[in-house]
Amino acid sequence: MPITSTLSEKDRESRDDDTRERKIPVDANGRPLIDERTGTIVGEIKISPEIERVQEEVAKLRAHFAAIRPRLNKHMFHFGETLGTGTFGRVRLVTYQQSNKTHVFALKMLKKSEIIRLKQVEHIKNEKNILSEISHPFIVNLYSHFQDENNLYMLMEYVIGGELFSQLRKVGRFSNETSRFYAAEIVLALQYLHSKNIVYRDLKPENLLIDHEGHMKITDFGFAKKVEDRTWTLCGTPEYLAPEIIQSKGHGKGADWWALGILIYEMLAGYPPFYDENPFGIYQKILAGKIEFPKHFDPHAKDLVKKLLTADITQRYGCLKDGAEDIKRHKWFKPIDWNKCYNRKLKPPFIPKFKAANDTSNFDKYPESPPASPKPLTPEEEALFAHF
Ligand SMILES: Nc1ncnc2c1ncn2[C@@H]1O[C@H](COP(=O)(O)OP(=O)(O)O)[C@@H](O)[C@H]1O
Ligand SMILES: [Mg+2]
Repeated sequence: MPITSTLSEKDRESRDDDTRERKIPVDANGRPLIDERTGTIVGEIKISPEIERVQEEVAKLRAHFAAIRPRLNKHMFHFGETLGTGTFGRVRLVTYQQSNKTHVFALKMLKKSEIIRLKQVEHIKNEKNILSEISHPFIVNLYSHFQDENNLYMLMEYVIGGELFSQLRKVGRFSNETSRFYAAEIVLALQYLHSKNIVYRDLKPENLLIDHEGHMKITDFGFAKKVEDRTWTLCGTPEYLAPEIIQSKGHGKGADWWALGILIYEMLAGYPPFYDENPFGIYQKILAGKIEFPKHFDPHAKDLVKKLLTADITQRYGCLKDGAEDIKRHKWFKPIDWNKCYNRKLKPPFIPKFKAANDTSNFDKYPESPPASPKPLTPEEEALFAHF
């Protein structure tokens, strides 16, 4: 039986955003009871049969590729257009023939030599390990992974609508409702990740894709990391925090909530809150913390953005005792039914156009990669990828 805690009168006064009754089921230690599958408070979300079905499909595909993994290689795929280029390689559209069914996937390819040169071996392993063990309606599904002499490969679902970035630049800025819709789906994805002690650390419109129905899919787990500390070890209970933990705030869950504040601002304004031509200028502005809001900004959105872009992580929304719940219960999100949101039942503001499952017209065009003749790795270098 979940025990229920309500906030005291004093807490109530100090949280003027509380518009809904705060009854959070807690465990014997007073921590919110979390549903493992959704990452949300127990009882809040009932996974719909449609979502169950999608997750079963994902599990089936993962099992299929797990069974053939020892012989999985790039020649089993037919290569299409490049969808994006990144630090270590590129992401290509590929098709795959499974008996009489043709699947379309996105294949992320990373050059081993580049990963070594940029000292990113650990990050790439994190990316693969984390994506392999999660499944969420708003996070890109990883089906399998393999490697050859030169590259690592991650086989993912193809998200056909392109980057949120492209859509945002195309229309300039999003309406209040559109921004709220995307932000709500991201909140649930981050809450889920954090419930598994995963910090994402790379939230930005380039890594947010729009799927065939117009819903969000977070991609690029290249900086994601498992932090074994509990939520409040990094973000809360200030009395017990060592200075170095506070100073490494870039590595905590709080950094994701800060980034959410930046994202909400950028969607509504069309540009980020702290901007300068060079990175140093940006850092200075972030540290100075002065945010100017355009006149058209919705007052509740402004309030939430301020609460997320709070430098002091002991005060930042998302990092307080009730974690993501404070954000979900904020007035700006009042129109959101979180159960419907999780189950993809809220109406997307924009549905991408496409002619077929392998349509790449929502992505920028990229020139073909020059034929590569990478220098062979030494046995020591090769050993770095033994566990990929
Ligand atoms: N599953 C996917 N479906 C469609 N496009 C994708 C997918 N994953 C990545 N992309 C595209 O490729 C780009 C680069 O991939 P990403 O994983 O972000 O690499 P990097 O770590 O180099 O930034 C993304 O910004 C996006 O445009
Ligand atoms: Mg990226």
